[in-house]
Amino acid sequence: MGAGRPCATLTSAMRLAKYLAHSGVASRRAAEKLIVNGRVSVAGKTVTDPARDVDESSGVAVDGGPVKPESHVVYALNKPPRVVSTAKDPGGHPTVVSLVPSERRLYPVGRLDFDSTGLILLTNDGELANRLMHPRYEVPKTYRVQVSPSPVSESSLTKLRQGVELEDGPTAPASVRRLAPARIEITIREGRNRQVKRMFEAVGHRVEALQRVAFGPLRLAGLEQGAYRRLTPAEIERLRKSTS
Ligand code: URA
Repeated sequence: MGAGRPCATLTSAMRLAKYLAHSGVASRRAAEKLIVNGRVSVAGKTVTDPARDVDESSGVAVDGGPVKPESHVVYALNKPPRVVSTAKDPGGHPTVVSLVPSERRLYPVGRLDFDSTGLILLTNDGELANRLMHPRYEVPKTYRVQVSPSPVSESSLTKLRQGVELEDGPTAPASVRRLAPARIEITIREGRNRQVKRMFEAVGHRVEALQRVAFGPLRLAGLEQGAYRRLTPAEIERLRKSTS
């Protein structure tokens, strides 16, 4: 576990799965699995109920190793192409996590495709990551895409704004703005797999390049491709507020 001041939110009692996520052990869902699989103990006794209330004094351990609270960090990375945004890649490609050296175990918040570029967040705060990805909070994500063939018609832009039919259901209304005949900025509040590419495919265009330029209140501006920076407490607070 990383050093640093314990996070204030860890001092009060909370459910075991949430405690593990807050401590940077795993995402909330992965923490639930660890618990159900009998790998988590409280005061020396195995606990299989993810809803059990615990706090810092409860003696929580995973595989026998004590879980200590660690301070939370959030990084913004400008993802280059040909980098995967899962934590590990069986194919041996670099991962977004490998581009941000940290003592803490970081997780990407959502995904960008292998060939996509732009703003991706990494954090050890599993709770915040889950909230930012949860469809309920409708956190806006803005993308700039270059598509072919050119130009994109006004009627296609209107369809994208209103919502298009995809195989996993219709998309919610989106904000869409033309930057050039075949260069479009689109803001969606969902996060389905390959959603932007599939939306453009639905109106007859292929996405040739996709860059995420904003995530919630954060913008990519100022970060070179491959560069990263740690968010300030004020920025993290703004992110948190976007999920409330
Ligand atoms: N939508 C996509 O189609 N791809 C991405 O990488 C992100 C959003």
